[in-house]
Amino acid sequence: MKRTHNATDIGTKDVGQQVTLNGWVDTRRDHGGLIFIDLRDRSGIIQVVFSPEVNEEAFHLAEQVRGEYVVAVNGEVRLRPKDTENPNLKTGKVEIYAQKMEILNTAKTPPFYIENDIDVDENLRLKYRYLDLRRPEMRDNILLRHRVVKTIRDFLDERGFVEIETPILTKSTPEGARDYLVPSRIYPGKFFALPQSPQIFKQILMVAGMEKYFQIARCFRDEDLRADRQPEFTQLDMEMSFIDERDIFKLIEEMLAEVFLQSTGNKIKTPFPILAYDEALKKYGSDKPDLRFDLEIVDLTDLMKDVEFKVFSSAVQSGGVVRALNAKNCASFTRKEIDDLGKMAVEHGAKGMAWIAVAENELKSPITKFFSEEKMKQVISALKAEPGDLLLFGADDVNVVNRVLGILRLELGKRLNLIDKDRLEFVWITDFPLLEYDEEEQRYVAIHHPFTSPQDKDIELLENEPGKARARAYDLVLNGAEIGGGSIRIHKKEWQEKMFSVLGLSKEEIQEKFGFMLRAFEYGTPPHGGIALGIDRLIMLMAKRGSVRDVIAFPKTQNAVCPMTEAPSTVSSKQLRELSLKIKELN
Ligand code: AMO
Ligand code: AMP
Repeated sequence: MKRTHNATDIGTKDVGQQVTLNGWVDTRRDHGGLIFIDLRDRSGIIQVVFSPEVNEEAFHLAEQVRGEYVVAVNGEVRLRPKDTENPNLKTGKVEIYAQKMEILNTAKTPPFYIENDIDVDENLRLKYRYLDLRRPEMRDNILLRHRVVKTIRDFLDERGFVEIETPILTKSTPEGARDYLVPSRIYPGKFFALPQSPQIFKQILMVAGMEKYFQIARCFRDEDLRADRQPEFTQLDMEMSFIDERDIFKLIEEMLAEVFLQSTGNKIKTPFPILAYDEALKKYGSDKPDLRFDLEIVDLTDLMKDVEFKVFSSAVQSGGVVRALNAKNCASFTRKEIDDLGKMAVEHGAKGMAWIAVAENELKSPITKFFSEEKMKQVISALKAEPGDLLLFGADDVNVVNRVLGILRLELGKRLNLIDKDRLEFVWITDFPLLEYDEEEQRYVAIHHPFTSPQDKDIELLENEPGKARARAYDLVLNGAEIGGGSIRIHKKEWQEKMFSVLGLSKEEIQEKFGFMLRAFEYGTPPHGGIALGIDRLIMLMAKRGSVRDVIAFPKTQNAVCPMTEAPSTVSSKQLRELSLKIKELN
C-alpha cells in the first residue's frame, strides 16, 4: 500500500476521496465500537477511524497496534462531525475511515512520550535520538535548519558564490582551541588535525582566483562545552576578494533578511547598527551586548577620583574605573535580593558591590555616609536616578568592572522582564584590538586570528606598541550571542611574516606551520576578507531554543560524548598497532 498523500496535505477539499497513508501510530484510543488512531508522518498528524461496520479486518488489526507501530492505511476522507473537530490539528476538520490496514512493523514501548515539552533527562533523549527527533518540536528544528541552509545556498549562488569543500584531514589552524588529532597509519608518529575552521584554505582559494567562496563547513574544536558550544559545529564560511567591511556587512544583512523571511517569516531591520568594541564594553559591559533592552552602564570615574570612599577613589587612582547601573524601580528589592546580586558580582571577580536605594527624600545605602551631599547629587544626576531606583556600583580594574556590570545588567534584564523574546536585535561589533597580552605565555596572542589585518592607521604600531593596534575584525551579535565573526586579512607576505613574529613565532616555526601559506602569498594574492556564521547558534536563536544541541541531529553531550553510539570508545589493539600507538595506563 503505497502512500498517496502526506498526512497534513489532506483537508476538506479531499472529502469523499480514497487515500493511502504511511506512518507511525501516534496514539490509539479504543472506544469499544470504534477505534481512533492518530497517524503521524513527517508532515504531522491525521485521525483515522476504524469501525467494524466499515471493515472488520482493519478493525481487528487496529485492536492489535500499539504506539510507534509502522502502518499503511487506506480509507475514505470524511468530514468530522462538528462537535468532534480538533482546532489544534491542521487536519482537525477531517478524518479517514479505514477500509484497509497493514502493519509494516511493530515497535517496543518508547522510553519517553513522543510529544512536545517532555521533562526527560537529555542523556536519555540523546541515547534514543531517533525517537527524540520524532517529537514535533525537534522535527521542526531539523526542518528549519534545512530551510535556512537551502536559502543560504540559493542566495549565495545567485550572488556569484561558489561552494567549495576543503579538507577534513589537514594541518592545525590557529583558531585558539585545542585540536582534534588523527594519527597517520602510513607515517607513524605523524598526525592530521581536524580543521578548527577552513581559514587558511579559504584564503588560499582567494590566491587561486575563486573570488567568492562559501562552504557549509564542519569545524572541530576541543574546548570546554557549553549550551552554545559543540566540539563539532557548522559554519557558513565565506571569503571574498576585492571587498571591504561594508561589502561584507551589506551582503550578510541581505542574506539574513532573506533567510529570516523564508524560514520564520520575520522581517528584520537592516542595515544592522554598528558599535565599536570599546563602546560596547563601556555601555553594556560585553562585546556581545543584548540590545533587546537598554539599561546602560554609566561611567563615574571622573566623579569618584578623589572621594573619601577609598574603595572608589583608590580604584581610580590605581588606573581603574568606577561605573554603575541604574536598576529602575528596584529600590524595593529586599536586602536578600541585593545581597544575592552582590554575591553574583563577587563570583565573577568583584571585590564587592556597593549600592544605593533612592527613596522619596533619602538615600538608603551603606556608603552614602562617605559622600558629600553635592557629590551624591552629581551621582544621582549622572545616573538619571529617580525615587524608587536602585543604583549598583563597580570599582576596579576596567576589565573586572565591565565583566561584572555586564553580568548584572543581563541578570536585571531577566529579573525585571526587560527582554522581549520576540525581538531580534542584531549588531556589528567593530574596532576590536588586534592582539592581547597573554600573561601565562608571556607573549601577544591574536584576538581574532593571526591572519587579521591591522587597521591601516595602526600598521606602524606593530613595531613598538602592538597592544595598541586595532584590527579590521568584526563580529555579528544577535540578542547577546555571537553568531559570526570575520575580518579583512593581511594579503602581503611581509606583513603576515611580521605578524607571526609579533606573536612570538621563530623563523623556523613560521616556516614549519605556515610556510605553505606564505609561499602561496608570493604568487599574486588579492586583497580579501571574509566571515563565518555559526549555523548552529543562528538556528538555535531562530528556533528560540536554549541549546545548540536541540538544532543538531546528533550532537554530543556537555561531556563531549554521544550517548547513542557511545563514542568515543576504545579500539582494538590491532588498530593501535597499525597506528604505532600505545595506550599508557593513566591514573
Ligand atoms: P570564529 O572562531 O569567530 O571565526 O567562529 C565563527 C562563528 O562560529 C561559531 N562558533 C561555534 N558554534 C558552536 N560551537 C562552537 N564550539 C563554536 N565556535 C565558534 C560562533 C562564531 O561566531 N575562521 C574564522 C572566521 C573568519 O575569520 O572568517 C572563525 O572561525 O557563532
Ligand atoms: P567595605 O568598606 O569593604 O565594607 O565596602 C563598602 C561597600 O562597598 C560594600 O557594599 C561593598 O560591597 C562595596 N564594595 C567593596 N569593594 C567594592 C568594589 N571594588 N566595587 C564596588 N563596590 C565595592
